[in-house]
Amino acid sequence: MDLIELIKKRRSVREFLNKPISRDCLEDIVDAARFAPTARNVQPWEFVVVTEKEALKHIAEISEHGKFISSAAASILVFSQDTKYFLEDCSAATQNAMLAALALGIGSCWVAGDKKSYAGELNLLFGVPISHKLVSIIALGYPVTDKVFRAADKRSLQEVLHWERF
Ligand SMILES: Cc1cc2nc3c(=O)[nH]c(=O)nc-3n(C[C@H](O)[C@H](O)[C@H](O)COP(=O)(O)O)c2cc1C
Repeated sequence: MDLIELIKKRRSVREFLNKPISRDCLEDIVDAARFAPTARNVQPWEFVVVTEKEALKHIAEISEHGKFISSAAASILVFSQDTKYFLEDCSAATQNAMLAALALGIGSCWVAGDKKSYAGELNLLFGVPISHKLVSIIALGYPVTDKVFRAADKRSLQEVLHWERF
């Protein structure tokens, strides 16, 4: 799949097969994340990869709209130092990770972290210094069906593209 096709086919996946993701794949996904652009190249992120079932269930219980994380094969918690552009930087990294996952045949869903009241609980649970902010939880797993990789329903190009002026 070429990159543009891959970008267009990515969809949030919330139903996963009971199949583990290899350590190599998880490492490749984080490796892709760390290549994202960052303001002044500060790279403020830290990635906590969680694969233990009990820990995944715990994240699922804590997160507001992430109950499906209990059936994920892994989750990556994206934390950041509290820099001026941490949200933009770590959002770019999150997207990189999700696209890399798809390239490896792995489905993903971004679960909100920033601005969530449960964020601090995850710091405590995973030993992350409270100085670091949770930006996203990336649920990962092999999708139950290929159909989830269909092109997403999105606002049309004509609607959102403005040449020269709005
Ligand atoms: C900042 C952000 C937070 C999100 N939080 C959640 C969440 O807590 N739970 C969830 O199921 N999906 C979450 N999503 C996924 C969105 O619901 C999803 O991206 C959107 O519906 C578009 O669908 P698509 O990803 O298939 O294109 C989040 C996405 C973003 C970018």
